[in-house]
Amino acid sequence: MCGIVGYLGDKQATDVVIEGLAALEYRGYDSVGVAFISKDRAGKVVKQAGRVESLVPLVKQQALAGCHISIGHTRWATHGLPNSKNAHPHANNDNTIFVVHNGIIENYQELRDQLIKIGYNFYSETDTEVIPNLIDYYNKKTGSLEQAIRDTLNDLSGAFAVAILSTLEPDTIYAARVSSPLVIGVGENQDYILASDPNAIMEHTKKVIFLDDNDLAVIKKGKLKISDFKANTAKDPKVELLDYDQEKASLGDFPNFMLKEIFEAPQTIKTATLGRVLADEGIIKLGGLESINAQLRYIDRIVIVACGTSYYAGMVGEYLIEELAGIPVEVQQASEFKYRHEPFSRSTILLAISQSGETADTLAALEKVKDFGCLRLGVVNATGSSIARLTDAGVYCHAGPERAVASTKAFIAQVTVLTLIALYLSKGEHKSYRKLLKELELLPEKAKAVLDQANEIKRIALKYKDSSEFLYIGRTILYPCALEGALKLKEISYIHAEGYAAGEMKHGPLALIDKNFPTFALATNSAVLEKTLSNIEEIKARGGPIIALATLGNKKIQPLADEVIYLPETLEQTQPILAALAMQLFAYFVAEAKGLDIDRPRNLAKSVTVE
Ligand code: F6R
Repeated sequence: MCGIVGYLGDKQATDVVIEGLAALEYRGYDSVGVAFISKDRAGKVVKQAGRVESLVPLVKQQALAGCHISIGHTRWATHGLPNSKNAHPHANNDNTIFVVHNGIIENYQELRDQLIKIGYNFYSETDTEVIPNLIDYYNKKTGSLEQAIRDTLNDLSGAFAVAILSTLEPDTIYAARVSSPLVIGVGENQDYILASDPNAIMEHTKKVIFLDDNDLAVIKKGKLKISDFKANTAKDPKVELLDYDQEKASLGDFPNFMLKEIFEAPQTIKTATLGRVLADEGIIKLGGLESINAQLRYIDRIVIVACGTSYYAGMVGEYLIEELAGIPVEVQQASEFKYRHEPFSRSTILLAISQSGETADTLAALEKVKDFGCLRLGVVNATGSSIARLTDAGVYCHAGPERAVASTKAFIAQVTVLTLIALYLSKGEHKSYRKLLKELELLPEKAKAVLDQANEIKRIALKYKDSSEFLYIGRTILYPCALEGALKLKEISYIHAEGYAAGEMKHGPLALIDKNFPTFALATNSAVLEKTLSNIEEIKARGGPIIALATLGNKKIQPLADEVIYLPETLEQTQPILAALAMQLFAYFVAEAKGLDIDRPRNLAKSVTVE
């Protein structure tokens, strides 16, 4: 959610930090700030509400050349309004210790009350401000900044990642984490760059060290020490190589990342299936699952956990795995799974789906079953992310970095990968196995054919842009797609949209229908098409406008719908991918027509690292 960047080395530190924050801004963007130690060893903080670019001139004024150490933060407000007072970094009362923080300190109120009792003052509404003051308290007690930081970290409960800078040790950055990501990049001239997301690092170096829970890193020029702050034991830093493709994170000719990422769909499908689908040989190769073949033999149930768009991809996966592999699947929102008391046996797989690999609730779901002896699998996009590292095995989505807050290409990749998993688990025994392998090879071209209709979809979007609500309906495997279509529209265009199973309409939602309440109906060719057409009839009879998604060549839909978007013919199992693409474009063009900030919708952030 929020973003942390820190730098220590030969370059102008504030420049590196600002650049890193700009790369992370998609994660949280309501306020921004940096702290740095200037050439004369004074500590300074510059912060304000708003975006990174608005901070640049202020930092340039204050951080004169020769500043080699700095930390910074982009914020997504959890405690207190997004204003300059609540923006990070936060300092102790003496203004000698500066902290940036991601996550939530759950016991901050208690710590704050104790500090107030002994004379500390607080100037913000944040949970973060207790950290520099508590460090200050322990530092005055022990005379050691490192010990003070250790003591403070041990007093905090919740999930957090912190970076700390102090005039008391002007050549050191301290960094620590519990259930919130932090990674240290090892630069060329013995310099280090610290960030909560490798996106801020990859331009500088691909050599990274991922911190684990309870790690405290003490970073000095050319010297890095990592220890477990709970056990107080030293650890050997493990350097890994990032395999991110930096080029893909730039906009090219597109006006924003969402449109770019939607248009990447054909390539996304190709990359997700590359080397994995050998249609002529009738083979699916998933290295991640081959390594656990022996355990997979004893599996009798799969529980999928995920949030938001990934959850809807999981629901599509449920239909696919149950149909193709005959294994019962249950999909749960990770935030609910964590607090349920359901029976869970060793023969159940917990499958986590996540684009970022850092979603707090999904991570918590994996943690919950840690001691149950069951397999924990991942369908993750971000390589090296916490979920990727926590799971026993899995299949990467390989969609490349997704920068727009609203997930598009990740959904396409997740559903593609779940199709592969379903086929793999089917052991080739389902009647559609071969046909589906072939279809996956043809799918990128069909996705392109959907994208080629962008102008037509835009025309329809302009017609409906002023609607204040929308219904999305679908049946069977297109039902979760309807939920995802509605989510896409509401999050970027701020239009209230609901997804419903088409068969549920008569059980309540039909009451909403009138001439001002449009329905987006997913009515592609399938075994249940006639049923969906009846539901569309019922909506039409009540005067509701209808936009239908139909399979090319379907003539029955025309008289029923006000607008029809035609999708290329494909198998029922691959329809969700093409349908999602058309709905992504529709939501995009509505938001564009309303002049909204498409990549950074209000109140949201990419990668939800707090519960
Ligand atoms: C919606 C969206 C979110 C994410 C959700 C899970 O467009 O992006 O609903 O899908 O926050 O995120 P990941 O997949 O990173 O776990």
